[in-house]
Amino acid sequence: MTNRELYEIAVSMMDKAYAPFSKYRVGAALLTKDGKVYTGCNVENSSFGGTICAERTAFVKAVSEGDREFEKIAIVSSGGEAWPCGICRQFMKEFCEDDFVIITGHDVDSLRTYTMKEILPEGFRL
Ligand code: THU
Repeated sequence: MTNRELYEIAVSMMDKAYAPFSKYRVGAALLTKDGKVYTGCNVENSSFGGTICAERTAFVKAVSEGDREFEKIAIVSSGGEAWPCGICRQFMKEFCEDDFVIITGHDVDSLRTYTMKEILPEGFRL
């Protein structure tokens, strides 16, 4: 699966976002090492702290189905280039090696890639 293909899946997930409070829609598409794709969107809550980000939605879907080996994730938002929040970086770190790839960008023709190590150097693990 190419970065462009994964990004397009993430784009399609923005339609599923439940974001009545922020109006900021986020889509994510997570590729496992054996080629499966798990999707995610942000799911907000009236109790704002209950909100779940698109990235964590995708990871929780994958891990709860028994998948824990990941290659890359594409993230898009309705507000321009999407960056994982601090909680999501830590959450991803739990399951990802330093060379796990994060794909972002304003559109499919201007994709940028980063590694887990780049977006969370010296991340915490027990
Ligand atoms: N959000 C994500 O889905 N992923 C991130 O990494 C950053 C923030 C969502 C959460 C909330 O629904 C909205 O964006 C505004 O914070």
